[in-house]
Amino acid sequence: MEPRRILLAVTGGIAAYKIPELVRALRGVGHVVRCAMTAEARHFVSPMVLQTLTGETVRTDLFDASEEGEIDHIRLADWAELVIVAPATAHTLARMCHGMADDLVTAVLLATRAPVLVAPAMNVNMWSHPATQANVERLCERGVHRVGPETGELACGWEGLGRMSEPEAIVAAATLVLGPDTLRGEKVLVTAGGTAEPIDSVRSITNRSSGKMGFAVAAEAARRGADVCLVAGVTSLSTPSGVRRIDAHSARQMRDAVMAELEDSTIVVKAAAVADFRPAVQEDHKIKKESLEGQAGFNLRLVTNPDILTEICERKGDRFVVGFAAESHDVVAAARRKIVRKGCDLLVANDISRSDAGFDVDTNAVFLVSPSGEVEEIPLLSKPEIAAQILDRVEKLRRERQ
Ligand SMILES: Cc1cc2nc3c(=O)[nH]c(=O)nc-3n(C[C@H](O)[C@H](O)[C@H](O)COP(=O)(O)O)c2cc1C
Repeated sequence: MEPRRILLAVTGGIAAYKIPELVRALRGVGHVVRCAMTAEARHFVSPMVLQTLTGETVRTDLFDASEEGEIDHIRLADWAELVIVAPATAHTLARMCHGMADDLVTAVLLATRAPVLVAPAMNVNMWSHPATQANVERLCERGVHRVGPETGELACGWEGLGRMSEPEAIVAAATLVLGPDTLRGEKVLVTAGGTAEPIDSVRSITNRSSGKMGFAVAAEAARRGADVCLVAGVTSLSTPSGVRRIDAHSARQMRDAVMAELEDSTIVVKAAAVADFRPAVQEDHKIKKESLEGQAGFNLRLVTNPDILTEICERKGDRFVVGFAAESHDVVAAARRKIVRKGCDLLVANDISRSDAGFDVDTNAVFLVSPSGEVEEIPLLSKPEIAAQILDRVEKLRRERQ
């Protein structure tokens, strides 16, 4: 695995005495490690020890001008490819859950876009308390990863669930979160979300695409080490960690953004729901209702938008191009026809007539159709899981092609 930049946030639990071992284990597999500590953590492990083991300044105080001058907390948050909170105290888990930023560690945790892995460690009753359980559940729902705690003899004298996972288990969990390096060196261009075609200065024609599928593909490609550019249409989603984003709202803007990025890309995944048509005339002011007085309505003439997938396929070269199809009936037959017509390397077909798949839901069920007409059915899964299956398939087909 390539070395990654890991920020280790140490909080004030007794298990902090194991953190020097964790630093050594992370550095042992080649990662670059920096430490940040809460004020309470300093009662349990010395910043000097961590500084010596990491070879990096240890940040402890949000308001220390010399520390902040060396690497300010936002730069530290941006620097990290992964933040590990170990040990994660009940107190810090609660602060994370509520989005507090009252010290260096929580401010960095709020600012970072890197994935976060927590290794909780505490007394068995603190762990099983409904407040802690609810906090951890909410954090996990938001995408925070967790390793442990384990069952065993606790430092407080109790026996039960609450021991911090061993350093080797935390390193293994970090490796899983960081993802495989199977797309390192690849430049992946992803489009996602719906487009909006203006009618006038306030109205537009759009669709129900949320962008979740494409964003999941972008996040997964980044997790696999790719350099990812995400061209995002209309969506309220935030940019996945490690992904470069370009916003492009209309089909024509999206076409221009994609064509500008195409040259450098080796894999293109076109998951955006691009409008096929746009109003022939786009008024630059709001069309007033009074201006239509006496008329039963008005006709909106539509013209055809550029077909981005066709254009990409015409310039495909050695690139691997994945298209998406949203179909409401005869899904597989329509997808087979589309892949031949467009000339892409893989087509992901969604059945948008299902309520649990396709537009604006967290799950999807798709058919992966190859140019030879071969079909693989992927059952209902979360969109991140579907994204992983798509990229597994892309990697396999590319290997076979080589
Ligand atoms: C000796 C001692 C050991 C402690 N061990 C833990 C622990 O293992 N887990 C925990 O959640 N809190 C533990 N605490 C309580 C935390 O230190 C306390 O909640 C503190 O406010 C945590 O601050 P922090 O989360 O900002 O680091 C311990 C306190 C003491 C005095």
